[in-house]
Amino acid sequence: MGFFSKDIKTMNDLFMHGLQDLYYAENQIAKSLPDMIDKASNPLLRAGFQKHLKETEGQIKRLEQVFELLDAQPKGEKCPAIEGILKEGSELMDEIDDADVMNIGLIAAAQAVEHYEITRYGALIAWASELGRNDCVPLFKANLAEEKATDQKLTALAERRVNPEGEKKSANGKKPVKRATSTARRKRKAQARPTKAKRNGAKKARRRA
Ligand SMILES: [Fe+2]
Ligand SMILES: [Fe+2]
Repeated sequence: MGFFSKDIKTMNDLFMHGLQDLYYAENQIAKSLPDMIDKASNPLLRAGFQKHLKETEGQIKRLEQVFELLDAQPKGEKCPAIEGILKEGSELMDEIDDADVMNIGLIAAAQAVEHYEITRYGALIAWASELGRNDCVPLFKANLAEEKATDQKLTALAERRVNPEGEKKSANGKKPVKRATSTARRKRKAQARPTKAKRNGAKKARRRA
């Protein structure tokens, strides 16, 4: 990535570098998504990946519009961060046989990608504003909104634990039973459990009796 190499002298260089980095990342993501679609057995997850592949293709076009606004040729800068995230995701997929575990692993791998993109778009928006390139900002913001929406949909799927039973019920016209998240379950357990003070009080009472 060469973030701190001496090729980057000005804020403008940093901005251009960030743009090329993200252009490379989006292209790599577009290449990886078909494999993730193939491996996702959950219909909602698969449809989500298919939708996001189309969005990613649109995002690449928006980045090309940014290059055009800057009178620059669209060019990617090799980005080891996204390569690492994607490589880790694909290595994980190679290790999983069970379809349900695969869906859950895919969600986590995809969220790592979305979070990376969200941080990068956030930086580019800030840098474009600082450089007075407000013409580029709406294009970055459009991409950022899609990344955030995708991340939220992945979170919702993870919270349902990609529950195929829930989807069957939904297909029958009944509302799917929303599974409690692990946090909600922990909270309920904690509420049901007597507090330490109460437990100590009960112990003392037993000793006194
Ligand atoms: Fe993207
Ligand atoms: Fe994305």
